Amino acid sequence: HTAHLTIDPAFRVAPVRRRTFGAFVEHLGRCVYTGIYEPGHPTADEDGFRGDVLELTRRLGVSTVRYPGGNFVSGYRWEDGVGPREQRPRRLDLAWHSTETNEVGVDEFLRWCGKAGVEPMMAVNLGTRGIEAALDLLEYCNHPSGTTLSERRIAGGAKEPYGIRMWCLGNELDGPWQTGHKTAREYGRLAAETARAMRMLDPGLELVACGSSGSSMPTFGSWEAEVLTETYDVVDYISCHAYYEEKNGDLGSFLACASDMEYFIGSVAATADHVGAKLKSRKKIDISFDEWNVWYLSRFQDAAPPTDWPVAPPLLEDHYSLADAVAVGGLLITLLRNSDRVRAASLAQLVNVIAPIVTEPGGRAWTQTTFHPFAQASRYAAGDVLRVEPVCPAYETAEYGEAPLLHAVATHDPDAGTTVFAINRSTDRPLSLRLDARALGAPRIVEATTLAGPDPYARNTADDPGRVAPRPNPDVEQDPLTVLLPPVSWNVIRLG
Ligand code: AHR
Repeated sequence: HTAHLTIDPAFRVAPVRRRTFGAFVEHLGRCVYTGIYEPGHPTADEDGFRGDVLELTRRLGVSTVRYPGGNFVSGYRWEDGVGPREQRPRRLDLAWHSTETNEVGVDEFLRWCGKAGVEPMMAVNLGTRGIEAALDLLEYCNHPSGTTLSERRIAGGAKEPYGIRMWCLGNELDGPWQTGHKTAREYGRLAAETARAMRMLDPGLELVACGSSGSSMPTFGSWEAEVLTETYDVVDYISCHAYYEEKNGDLGSFLACASDMEYFIGSVAATADHVGAKLKSRKKIDISFDEWNVWYLSRFQDAAPPTDWPVAPPLLEDHYSLADAVAVGGLLITLLRNSDRVRAASLAQLVNVIAPIVTEPGGRAWTQTTFHPFAQASRYAAGDVLRVEPVCPAYETAEYGEAPLLHAVATHDPDAGTTVFAINRSTDRPLSLRLDARALGAPRIVEATTLAGPDPYARNTADDPGRVAPRPNPDVEQDPLTVLLPPVSWNVIRLG
């Protein structure tokens, strides 16, 4: 198979947005406890944060981190997690059938963000709570001093306000599984009034209204339209959430899952624009794709429901393969290709829970296969996203119809150079990728790496964390610029 790609810096989509490379830390399973936080761990610092996880978070190149949920936030009382630790209550977490000790709360999370060098993205509870609790949390976090709530923060050791800009107005309230699940009208009204009140306190906020929990939700499309009709003037983003998994051994369909993400983004943007047109508004609503990943959700749903209420049990600890990493790479390519509209995204999640980083309690931290496409894209995507239109063979998939074998995007920066990110979706044949980069002068391929291997189901383990990792691609020609992409592979090609 052969594919052609033309790269021209004139075909600019949008700047690469650093917030595309966000992640997510939820009070779920072992994401917080024995994930980012484990006092007594050999690498733990004075605050109990695992140094090995902090280091891997930096290596992953994470820009923003969403917190504290997820489904968890819809039953959360943020006040439980502030003040002296010994006085913090233990609560039932209905979302994950667990006991929350509240050892980690808002202040600890924000201290962790400072150490990790990431921007926090805070979610408020619009499931069991509403405007007042959201305002209190905002005042606690962002008001400088002189009120009971801001002085409580200062008394806890945080003299300076946190200045959190991005706030999610609840989580997945379209989902019947959500505590405090609502109709679109109910949620839209609450989100609008919460947003209005929050802006009265701090007009500079960037607010995210909940969109659909997936493109296959029965209310998808009408949910966005109704919610935005209520909230259009007071929010900046509508969220999208999407998880994909290989079903019934159909690897071909799975590798094309970015087609669904592309459809999802296009439909939400069109719906938002339709509402804007009806409201005679020139404002554009952007997309925060604030949960996305590969998640073997069907295995989780098939498991027996829990009967006890453990503290930080191992939950949703998916073990990812090479094929999963290629699917993740394809999703990243789609997020980048849509940078004109997708201005923020969060890989769900960061540690242990459907995550690129895994920890052993008291022991090692290591990187799953999915760590690599994210880390490479975050590191090398720079400057502008360029529109590229691959010319290549297509194949038929049961789930998404016809899909091109090559899925790709390029970024261009006058200093950092030009990089092509590409996946080959063929399950059995390499793809010869020919690059036409004449518009850049006469560039050379300065580096080409590939994440590939004979077994698409190969996985990393704590004992062999380097088994699936990017390696130099030996099949490179400079004239004409050509790279051979192995079957089921994620590829990074740097031109200079
Ligand atoms: O990321 C895991 C869960 O997926 C989140 O808590 C929820 O928002 C989504 O359904």
